[in-house]
Amino acid sequence: MSRLTRLLDRFPLPRRLFPSPAPARPTPAPHIARRPPTALTGTDLVRSFGSGENQTYALNGVSVEFRQREVNLLMGPSGSGKSTLLAVLSGLLRPGGGSVAALGRDVWRMGEDEMERFRLRHCSYIFQGYNLFPALTAREQLEIVLKWGEGCPSREARKRADHVLGQLGLAAKSHLRPAELSGGEKQRVAIGRALVKNPTFVFADEPTAALDWENGRQVMRLLAENARERGAMVLVVTHDPRLVPLADRVFELTDGRLTRDGRADATPPPARKGPRLHLQLPQAATA
Ligand SMILES: Nc1ncnc2c1ncn2[C@@H]1O[C@H](COP(=O)(O)OP(=O)(O)OP(=O)(O)O)[C@@H](O)[C@H]1O
Ligand SMILES: [Mg+2]
Repeated sequence: MSRLTRLLDRFPLPRRLFPSPAPARPTPAPHIARRPPTALTGTDLVRSFGSGENQTYALNGVSVEFRQREVNLLMGPSGSGKSTLLAVLSGLLRPGGGSVAALGRDVWRMGEDEMERFRLRHCSYIFQGYNLFPALTAREQLEIVLKWGEGCPSREARKRADHVLGQLGLAAKSHLRPAELSGGEKQRVAIGRALVKNPTFVFADEPTAALDWENGRQVMRLLAENARERGAMVLVVTHDPRLVPLADRVFELTDGRLTRDGRADATPPPARKGPRLHLQLPQAATA
């Protein structure tokens, strides 16, 4: 036995200096590793408007399933029921039949207060019209969500707001009000406002419709990257087929029925680095 070994025996050094090799981790089966858990399910959803001769069925028995960390597009012709489905799935419009389960809970069986809390905690909405407060700066639009929604202290709210604005490439614009921002910048602020609370679900109804293609693509890309990074399920209604490559799954509605259910779209786009990105709901669908 060498002198050094004898010394080490008498004065053992902390274990962290000589870590034992890490045990080999079992490799998960690839099909299990790739499939994130189900986050939101709609079953046999029916919704009509009007009555008698004027009754229109916007949803005619739609069953659909969305997974965490996935970006989903909802497409289809005008009047096919997209905004109605988004509103029903997101807790804004009560269906006439069927059920919605989110995080294992039956959404439309919740009481009003419980539903309000659920939406506040888990859901974010982005709409075409941005819906920003005209009097607030970009930073304040995000801060207010954290202060009102979570009771977040001012200093922390400011830090989190600045962090998200930075990710969206808006650090230099955080002091500007909506009237001083371009359309693409306003939509990025709206996305920041949606994502700053780390929602479980992001619902967007035509978030890029008012933007030119470059801005629209950037907004969609930032929304998708951010949502994936934060583990959110994202559902985007769009008419624009050019957004398809940015999504994990594509669903299509025709006359209130699902004609494409997203199962075939299993190729997530490659992760990209860059700036990153919230939602609004259709007024008509909430009526
Ligand atoms: N509040 C409402 N009152 C009466 N009918 C409604 C209402 N909201 C929607 N509808 C009807 O339900 C059907 C589906 O409407 P919805 O807004 O969901 O379509 P959409 O796919 O979002 O269309 P678009 O692409 O034009 O936005 C349409 O026939 C529409 O007229
Ligand atoms: Mg619509």
